[in-house]
Amino acid sequence: MTAGVTVDGLPGRMIAIAITEPGGPEVLRAETRAVPVPKEGEVLIRVAAAGMNRGDLLQRQGLYPPPPGASDLPGLEVSGLVAACGPGVAGLAVGDRVCALVAGGGYAEYCAAPAAQCLPVPDGLDLATAAALPEALCTVWTNLVERGRLRAGDNVLIHGGASGIGTIAIQAARFLSAARVFATAGSPDKLALCAELGADRAIDHRNEDFVAIVKDATGGRGVDVILDMVGGDYLERNIEALAVEGRLVHISFIAGSRVCAELRPVMTKRLTITGSTLRGRSPADKAAIVAGVRADLWPRVADGQLRAVLDRGFALADAAAAHRYMHEGRHRGKILLHTGRRPSDKKPGEEPTT
Ligand SMILES: NC(=O)c1ccc[n+]([C@@H]2O[C@H](COP(=O)([O-])OP(=O)(O)OC[C@H]3O[C@@H](n4cnc5c(N)ncnc54)[C@H](OP(=O)(O)O)[C@@H]3O)[C@@H](O)[C@H]2O)c1
Repeated sequence: MTAGVTVDGLPGRMIAIAITEPGGPEVLRAETRAVPVPKEGEVLIRVAAAGMNRGDLLQRQGLYPPPPGASDLPGLEVSGLVAACGPGVAGLAVGDRVCALVAGGGYAEYCAAPAAQCLPVPDGLDLATAAALPEALCTVWTNLVERGRLRAGDNVLIHGGASGIGTIAIQAARFLSAARVFATAGSPDKLALCAELGADRAIDHRNEDFVAIVKDATGGRGVDVILDMVGGDYLERNIEALAVEGRLVHISFIAGSRVCAELRPVMTKRLTITGSTLRGRSPADKAAIVAGVRADLWPRVADGQLRAVLDRGFALADAAAAHRYMHEGRHRGKILLHTGRRPSDKKPGEEPTT
């Protein structure tokens, strides 16, 4: 953001939700900020909605700082209309419907995003709903395809199957030609959602043993890829549940990252234990990941087969309530923050639909 510089024809100031200090949801406050000026290769998006992620709660608590150079505002994904293009942007124009992966700044009326991290929102997809897709699709794609080396015919286990990430991971594993998809969740409605999204077996992690179930279902072989956000005592059980040459991919450690585990099977089964975080990746890495999503998964979004699961939306001004709601953990799929003045889905010059 460059002080004193504004984009022609756009307001100089906007409403954004800032983190005033590390703490609970009450530290989220509406502030007036300068509208970002898109830099080389960036577009300015007039935000329709921002997708919420668990990382936003960690950032608010002071546990997940923005990477160097990123906005201090929370918000890792947005959808909206391109409001301005910075120098050197090709292939996008003012008025285009896009959603974007960003390193921060999504909880605002306007957000700057690298053009290479934008995806075109297809006609059949509601503009605000598209905000639920970039972070989950990119996280799932890079961790299943690049780190997990998912191949057609593999058996896959997705932990947290009803989470924002999990709901996309179940569907993506299917479209990436997994043989069988197993998913864990912690309540009957979440288990039903996992099955509805394509899990061959939804496993109740409170009352069932996922190791025994995947072993039994695969004739004792185990699964080839596990996407795990839990950690803690899941590490040893994941190792047990993996087939020979299996890959365990960590994207979080909700139950703890300091673990004592029997690691001998890593040698005997020639396992790979890996993981990644998306936010801190370089712009070049993120561009490559978005390109991978665009090639492998976006066509399924465009034809309506791969869908965002929306739990509920809040007004941007109610971000604190949205954080309390996500913290409670009863949600299934994604939570959205809608800007007060929802942009028309039409391009300039066309009649708005609402
Ligand atoms: N590495 C990366 O690049 C990256 C990117 C995005 C997100 N993430 C991480 O991925 C995770 C999911 O993100 P999200 O935004 O989709 O969050 P979310 O919707 O809030 O989902 C969190 C899920 O965690 C599950 N869970 C919580 N405690 C658990 C436990 N003790 N045992 C088993 N499951 C438990 C819950 O499932 P049940 O209620 O069914 O138990 C819930 O569905 C978060 O931890 C986030 O930090 C990582």
